[in-house]
Amino acid sequence: MNPNKALWEKGDFTRIAASMRDSGEGLVAKLGVTKGLKVLDLGCGDGTTAIPAARLGADVLGVDIASNLVAAGNNRARELGLTNVRFQEGDASNLGELADDSFDLVVSIFGAMFAPKPFDVAKEMVRVTKPGGRIVMGNWIPGDPTLIAQVLKTSAAYTPRHQRVSSVR
Ligand SMILES: C[S@@+](CC[C@H](N)C(=O)[O-])C[C@H]1O[C@@H](n2cnc3c(N)ncnc32)[C@H](O)[C@@H]1O
Repeated sequence: MNPNKALWEKGDFTRIAASMRDSGEGLVAKLGVTKGLKVLDLGCGDGTTAIPAARLGADVLGVDIASNLVAAGNNRARELGLTNVRFQEGDASNLGELADDSFDLVVSIFGAMFAPKPFDVAKEMVRVTKPGGRIVMGNWIPGDPTLIAQVLKTSAAYTPRHQRVSSVR
């Protein structure tokens, strides 16, 4: 199995995501999301940003490597009665099933940055974004002094080398 996938399926990120509903909504409110906008949320988890974007009327696809989080996102959408968002499994470094120039807005909030091959991810994000579209990322910065950057650095030290995220090496 892909070790990146195994890592994210091992825990239950929904427990952390539950504390981020307000920040997710606040962020999406600033992204100029309009009805019918085609949005891809990459490394979407259980929909911290995908769900608020759908609530604003966008047509949203959430892609995440972890099957448990994809299921959690689809459950949330169902419970909220949202039919304009769906979640599917996929790897940010190879979005082969998504056509070129498909999305007006590609969002990845502390998501795609975890894929081990950042250049492949960047290429894929650009490929699926429509000409003139936007890419918005939230990433932890290498050498950042914040607590979470230190936590990631520590956990990276216990992660097999091929699986590490370049930004926390
Ligand atoms: C810190 S969580 C953030 C989730 C979500 N963006 C949020 O703001 O709640 C990181 C997410 O990235 C996903 N992820 C990690 N590597 C990935 C990859 N190669 N492709 C797609 N998703 C990935 C994880 O499964 C997890 O859901």
